Amino acid sequence: MQITRFNFGRFPMRLLVTGGCGFIGANYIRHILETQPEDVIVNLDKLTYAGNPMNLADVEEIHGGSRYFLARGDIGNTELAAHLIESHEIDAVVNFAAETHVDRSIDDASPFIETNIAGTQNLLHTARTYGVKRFVHVSTDEVYGTLGPDGKFSEQTPLAPNSPYSASKAGADMLVRACHETYGYDTVITRCSNNYGPYQFPEKLIPLMISRAMADEPLPVYGDGQNVRDWIFVTDHCRGVDMALRQGASGGVYNFGGAAEKPNIDVVKTILAALGKPESLIKYVTDRPGHDRRYAMDFSLAERELGFTPLYDFERGIKETIAWYLANGEWLAGIESGDYLKFMQKWYGGRV
Ligand code: NAD
Ligand code: DAU
Repeated sequence: MQITRFNFGRFPMRLLVTGGCGFIGANYIRHILETQPEDVIVNLDKLTYAGNPMNLADVEEIHGGSRYFLARGDIGNTELAAHLIESHEIDAVVNFAAETHVDRSIDDASPFIETNIAGTQNLLHTARTYGVKRFVHVSTDEVYGTLGPDGKFSEQTPLAPNSPYSASKAGADMLVRACHETYGYDTVITRCSNNYGPYQFPEKLIPLMISRAMADEPLPVYGDGQNVRDWIFVTDHCRGVDMALRQGASGGVYNFGGAAEKPNIDVVKTILAALGKPESLIKYVTDRPGHDRRYAMDFSLAERELGFTPLYDFERGIKETIAWYLANGEWLAGIESGDYLKFMQKWYGGRV
């Protein structure tokens, strides 16, 4: 693979960020608006169950219509993507949009195929043909499959996805790779381990356990609780994606991780202890089918080439995350009651 370095870092950029109303996308948009004072962001989001415009309510108040624009729509909609690219003179796409929950993909893979594979291919094709200079595709460590007790995933590890979710993400990665090889299009793929932090939808392990413990409800731990994940605080992932956007090699693939491997049961017990709740709330339940045993990331390439290092250790990250959920009970309640629909009406009326 031929690698051509292309440094965008010197210029203000106009970014099309997809899936920006989700967990990582919303944190990424905040990160860019804070650290890149001249950048402009267009957020293309379908607003699925996981997309919540209230995640960016304050951003809308401050930057809406000047540095931040929300367009409700599907990455699979060619006309809309082309219109946004042309009318906002987009320099680069950062593609977060995806169906992301493994358990949902086991129940029904079709939306995962539609968005993660077909949607990504459509966006990639549209970005290339409408002259967008760079396409950053946000992927996951799950494309590598599972590890035994030792070793880490590197960018050279063969892809061996085990769930419909990770298979759909691997499919997208292959299409992005092929687009670079076939057309010489400037693409970058990032692969990251498990994120946690503010605004994460409470179906994922950490926010689910926090919200259930807060309500004194049972905490469902799959299997024996010994599956290991590497946890990265979300802003560290956002920093990594931005470094890949501005400094990454064309055609490059970069792993990111938090250097914080933990068995699930340890994470759950840490949350219970921090909230002063009893371990009797833990309930071992039937394991997830095809449950990957262990993930661990070698992110030395990102350290060497991009200067990436995670700034948060797990102790600090989990403390801040729990504090955020305790302080934002209304956010959790809003998700359950569909409050974001009222927000949409207030800000957008019939526009999106
Ligand atoms: P999320 O589920 O919180 O948010 C996904 C967002 O994408 C939502 O706002 C949703 O409305 C939007 N979306 C879904 N389908 C769409 C479509 N067809 N068109 C436009 N928008 C659409 O997800 P997340 O956890 O923030 O993950 C973001 C990205 O990062 C995903 O690509 C995921 O695979 C990747 N990733 C996540 C993690 C993690 O730990 N959460 C780790 C590594 C990589
Ligand atoms: O590794 C990156 C991936 O992390 C992302 O690509 C995915 O989008 C994201 O959803 C996440 O996938 P996981 O399957 O690792 O995350 P989840 O939060 O669903 O589960 C984390 C671990 O906790 C996993 O081993 C399963 C376990 N678990 C999960 C839930 C929801 C439980 O034991 N009980 C639960 O209720």
